Amino acid sequence: MIAPTDSVSFSNSVTPLTQFHPDLTREALEDKVILVVGGANGIGASLVELCCENKAHVCIGDIDSPRGATLARKCRENWPVYTEPAAPPKPPRSTFQPVDITDYQSVLDLFEYAFKTFKRIDHVVVTAGSMEPNENWFDNSLNLEAVRKPPSTKDLTVNLVGPLYVTRIASVYLRHNRGPGADRSITLFSCAAGFKETPGVSVYQAAKHGVQGLMRSLRPYFSSPYKHNLRINTICPWMTETHPALTKKLCDRWAKEGLPVSTSDEVAQVTAGVLVDNTLNGTSMYVEGGRAWEIEANIERLEAQWLGEIPWQTLAQGQKLLKDAWAA
Ligand SMILES: NC(=O)c1ccc[n+]([C@@H]2O[C@H](COP(=O)([O-])OP(=O)(O)OC[C@H]3O[C@@H](n4cnc5c(N)ncnc54)[C@H](O)[C@@H]3O)[C@@H](O)[C@H]2O)c1
Repeated sequence: MIAPTDSVSFSNSVTPLTQFHPDLTREALEDKVILVVGGANGIGASLVELCCENKAHVCIGDIDSPRGATLARKCRENWPVYTEPAAPPKPPRSTFQPVDITDYQSVLDLFEYAFKTFKRIDHVVVTAGSMEPNENWFDNSLNLEAVRKPPSTKDLTVNLVGPLYVTRIASVYLRHNRGPGADRSITLFSCAAGFKETPGVSVYQAAKHGVQGLMRSLRPYFSSPYKHNLRINTICPWMTETHPALTKKLCDRWAKEGLPVSTSDEVAQVTAGVLVDNTLNGTSMYVEGGRAWEIEANIERLEAQWLGEIPWQTLAQGQKLLKDAWAA
């Protein structure tokens, strides 16, 4: 078995896997302004600390005000900002603004606050998420009476509507106060369930597939220097130590089978690696056991094989026609 975090060399030239090794040099995040939506807990909180430690300025947006405010204070204390005596004052290392990602006005207020506080935003990361494992929309014990009660839509609104709101608003705010050549990006949190069936959490899974779809639909458009000139990527963690389903019983079974679990710090490291690599656009980093794999390139590269040669060609032709027609 390969130990988590070890490098894996892959020898199958037909389907080479692309392992992503985050390259976080000491200066890469220095003075960057990063907005982490959902940054009060879990992977987001690890990312906030990693960015602050690397001298970025971080705005935390989260619905959890006590944890968000405490984390921002901790970051200000641990990594104070030094301004040269003759230089204009630098913004704070970290601040917190409450936000409900499912409320458009609340997301707007968050961006307005971050922009006023830091004067620009370089990178936006959405780690906010929800999983209601006990809310099975398609429970086979539902009867004609029980089905009348409307189900919770929380997994859909937090995991998909929220990222849609953030992405829309970010696409405007990231364009402002942008120096020449400045790299700007949006990173959305999807999941292994964003591309692989996962039992019991259908609405969560539909939403995470939606996040993947959102990134795919925007990656050519956002990256165009004539349009937004922004990068957009997703992170697809598999089991991470913060997972709501990770009970002691499941943990024990998982460990017994030798299955990998990432730490939130490891997922944060991969995410920071995506933020600082300005060549990455339209990628999805699947993270398992602390290692990351880029999956989009292979899906694209092997399309003729999984779709079939003829449908692959006609689909490409039709998609090009649609693109030209809509651009006209
Ligand atoms: N932990 C895992 O195993 C795992 C696996 C795959 C994907 N993910 C995804 O990674 C992301 C981070 O996961 P995590 O385990 O750190 O989660 P977490 O629950 O620890 O943190 C999520 C954060 O989102 C915030 N949040 C929830 N609803 C919100 C709302 N309406 N508005 C604003 N903030 C809100 C929470 O307060 C919390 O701070 C999520 O999108 C999750 O779906 C996690």
